[in-house]
Amino acid sequence: MKPLLLIVDDDEEIRTQMKWTLAQDYEVVLAGDRGSALEVFRSAHPAVVLLDLGLPPQPANPEEGLAALSELLTLDSSTKIVIVSGQGDKDNALRAIGAGAYDFLVKPVEVEELKLLLKRCFHVAQLEKEYRRMQQLLQADTFEGMLGTSRVMRNVFDTIRKVATTDAPVLILGESGTGKEMAAQAIHRRSPRKDGPFVAINCSAIPETLLESELFGHEKGAFTGAHAMRKGRIETANGGTLFLDEIGEVPLPIQVKLLRFLQEKRIERVGGRQEINIDARVVAATNADLKKGMAGGTFREDLFYRLAVVQITLPALRERESDVKLLAQCCMQRYSGQIGKNALAFDAEAVRALMRHLWPGNVRELENRVKRAVIMAEGKRITPQDLELESVSGAAAVTTLKEAREAVEREMIQNALRKHSGKIAPAAVELGVSRPTLYELMEKLGIAREAKE
Ligand SMILES: Nc1ncnc2c1ncn2[C@@H]1O[C@H](COP(=O)(O)OP(=O)(O)OP(=O)(O)O)[C@@H](O)[C@H]1O
Ligand SMILES: [Mg+2]
Repeated sequence: MKPLLLIVDDDEEIRTQMKWTLAQDYEVVLAGDRGSALEVFRSAHPAVVLLDLGLPPQPANPEEGLAALSELLTLDSSTKIVIVSGQGDKDNALRAIGAGAYDFLVKPVEVEELKLLLKRCFHVAQLEKEYRRMQQLLQADTFEGMLGTSRVMRNVFDTIRKVATTDAPVLILGESGTGKEMAAQAIHRRSPRKDGPFVAINCSAIPETLLESELFGHEKGAFTGAHAMRKGRIETANGGTLFLDEIGEVPLPIQVKLLRFLQEKRIERVGGRQEINIDARVVAATNADLKKGMAGGTFREDLFYRLAVVQITLPALRERESDVKLLAQCCMQRYSGQIGKNALAFDAEAVRALMRHLWPGNVRELENRVKRAVIMAEGKRITPQDLELESVSGAAAVTTLKEAREAVEREMIQNALRKHSGKIAPAAVELGVSRPTLYELMEKLGIAREAKE
């Protein structure tokens, strides 16, 4: 579809000439006076207008043209209006720029100059439109930078709003890449402690021997190599929020010490005698199954109940189908803007592939795929191949009955699995087959098991 251009000029010959000159690149609509210009604008809504200032009933003076300019801008202030003025009429052209016109050309108009200017106008209009759309998306659908309009995510946001104002410890659960750290930050930023520090520690990334001193700090000479006193993360979080990430990986001896800190709000540095009062709100997160850890004796039950005064579970991305497109769109816009590849869009097959994928790596996987696709995309359209997702228009590729049947089976099984978070039993019920049959079919069709029972 060609971009739409409105040409307003009282000289019919000029109008037709321009139309023919530009018809190859634009869909041109015409008007000969202010009234019809507004009428055409209202119904066709072009992004760019070429406007002659000398319009009837007084073609010799610019007032009618300037009035048209201001009325068009009132209808849509983002319209790019290019003034076409007569020789020696520069003052009026400048007046028009002052009143919001985008640029001006002097008659007789040079075709190449006109074409270049129009190209730039449409480009700027397009960029501005995308920018506005993204701002709207971001404003309407984010909560502290987290995108989501699905019911499950709205519930998460509601819970965060409620707990943020309290000091209660929060345990955030969810698969890898679902946004646990973002949720922890949202809690902090919404809390009365927001001006205090947010201190995160990834308990699984620090070797056991160092974790204690990293958390609690140490005194000078507490152990070989402890040349000076050092505050731990807990102490640094004083007055703010302490985020204990991957809490499930904390070894038992340190769990005991954390429990004591949670109960008494006091700590001792390693090698220290003196107790230090700490006022820090604790938020913990894990993608491990702590119930299993408790049953197996690797996670203390008393610590669990201390931490999990409030639990927030971030749903897997496959459980928030309605957010996938929004996340992909926002990520694509943000990243393509960053690397200067504008006006990209997902093609219809890419959207279907995004919707169908089960996202074992959740939002992080989606971000990675979309970023890669923005880099790989060759034209203006992102394809399933750019996303490294299987194309969904299976019908075109299918040639035999067997392939057709398998394509339908695969589609139905994947839909049922997505609906039930990858759980086999309810998916089998929905599909009307036994569990072993479903397993067999999945194996035959090469569908991976993405989630545990
Ligand atoms: N709702 C969301 N809206 C926008 N971006 C999100 C959302 N959730 C997650 N992200 C993005 O996805 C990525 C992963 O999020 P985050 O690090 O918070 O997840 P996580 O659950 O802590 O993952 P892991 O378990 O792997 O540590 C980040 O880049 C984050 O910005
Ligand atoms: Mg994390």
